[in-house]
Amino acid sequence: MSVNQNYWQANLCVEMKPVPNLMVIFGASGDLTRRKLIPALFNLYRRELFHEASRIVGFSRTPMSDDGLRESIREFLPAAAPREVEKFLAKIYYVYGEYDSPESYRKLGTRLKDIEEKPSPELNRTFYLSTPAALYPMIVPRLAESGLTAENFEGKPWRHVILEKPFGYDTESAEELDRMLHQSLQERQIYRIDHYLGKETVQNILMLRFANIIFEPVWNNAYIDHVQITTAETVGVGSRAGYYDRAGQLRDMFQNHMLAMLSLVAMEVPVTLDADGMRDEQLKLIRSIQPISLAELDKYILRAQYVEDDKLPGYRSEPGIRANSQTETYAAAKLFINNWRWRGVPFYLRSGKRLKRKVSEIAITFKHVPHSIFPQLTSSELEPDVLVLNVQPEEGMALSIQAKQPGPRLCMGKLTLKFNYADTFGGNIPEAYERLLLDSMLGDQTLFIRSDIIAASWRLFTPVLEAWQANAVPLYTYKAGSEGPDEANRLFGKTGYFWREL
Ligand code: BG6
Repeated sequence: MSVNQNYWQANLCVEMKPVPNLMVIFGASGDLTRRKLIPALFNLYRRELFHEASRIVGFSRTPMSDDGLRESIREFLPAAAPREVEKFLAKIYYVYGEYDSPESYRKLGTRLKDIEEKPSPELNRTFYLSTPAALYPMIVPRLAESGLTAENFEGKPWRHVILEKPFGYDTESAEELDRMLHQSLQERQIYRIDHYLGKETVQNILMLRFANIIFEPVWNNAYIDHVQITTAETVGVGSRAGYYDRAGQLRDMFQNHMLAMLSLVAMEVPVTLDADGMRDEQLKLIRSIQPISLAELDKYILRAQYVEDDKLPGYRSEPGIRANSQTETYAAAKLFINNWRWRGVPFYLRSGKRLKRKVSEIAITFKHVPHSIFPQLTSSELEPDVLVLNVQPEEGMALSIQAKQPGPRLCMGKLTLKFNYADTFGGNIPEAYERLLLDSMLGDQTLFIRSDIIAASWRLFTPVLEAWQANAVPLYTYKAGSEGPDEANRLFGKTGYFWREL
């Protein structure tokens, strides 16, 4: 089966009415702003999801004029749409100052008033901290002291702050960051980004599970054998050695993106799809994950680092990485969820850098049929059905089932029913940031991570990180550009299953 335009009826759209917003971006001269945020805001503008009265104000330490910022941004916007680009750029302003100087915040406040005076005196304000996380404890209190994040009782107009990960380094530092944020802001003002939640295919998990009846009855331990969640990348650490060598793959990908995907696949039906409806269920799910047994660590989780291959350098030879670094660039885990639905079903998670292929997917393997009526084939010889949710790069999903091959003989084989976003929607899939920025401007926290979810995920992984830090278990190796360490297959024990091929 393939789905094409003729079969697709987009007749059920949830209306999204943009509201006027002043988006203040801290770290405006940085890469994230130019490469991701501004193009995403421009796309929203083109789709008429950026309110006419909305404005963007960049703030950073580099002395520059409004035009200076506009020029530095222009090359990241499509050259083929010059008129729209000009109109959009005219909505962008710039203020420079020091992140720790109260005077700079006063200057920013005065400029914001001036700017918003023209379209509307009562714009909502969103402060996007596109700076290193180390600066949050400097910026957030200054914003609050200067009154820039003060809201009235009803939170109208609102003052929101968007933050990028890392949200701490372990349980303790995450709690400290949280305390710092809550001294200045209320939880409803804090928008913590996990860009995986902005991905179309990740959001589609909710539609698949909760807008269809056929999956729910089999979505449990009676029918599902195991689930594999993979995020594999071909890139190494690039220019982020300073951050990454201290963080490693478990902090960088598991504590956030991997658990976000796991929670959407495994959580119960939310009461409503509003922010707390969904996040309550995600939290419940993460809290139900069985703590990883430190006594048998190697049985449940392992770490590895890539080494040189003929063409690719090893991790320790990458620029900026310590020559004796023990940082993992790959991690794989087997997790169990202690609730009625999932008791006994292993969830295998793996994530690594410098692997053979870039792929993010969730593969759900169903159980074998209980009994085979086909001569010469036992039930365990009949391949189980597998539903794969392809998050990227080939966004879509695929269901493999058994089917009869045409012909007089009884021949059975695997048939894959495929749906591919690019074939159906022409590959025009919005970037994760587009959706997240839109939601932040609508005041919708559903796809942003709540403080208690972060705390629960750190509680799960911090003991493992501490054991790794103490070198209590081996650091395996794998060749750059490979499938990952051979040892990762040990997690499957004698089940007869292995990691899916990348
Ligand atoms: C980021 C990690 O959060 O996600 C990066 O810090 C990683 O190390 C990236 O490369 C992967 O995102 P994506 O969208 O390319 O899968």
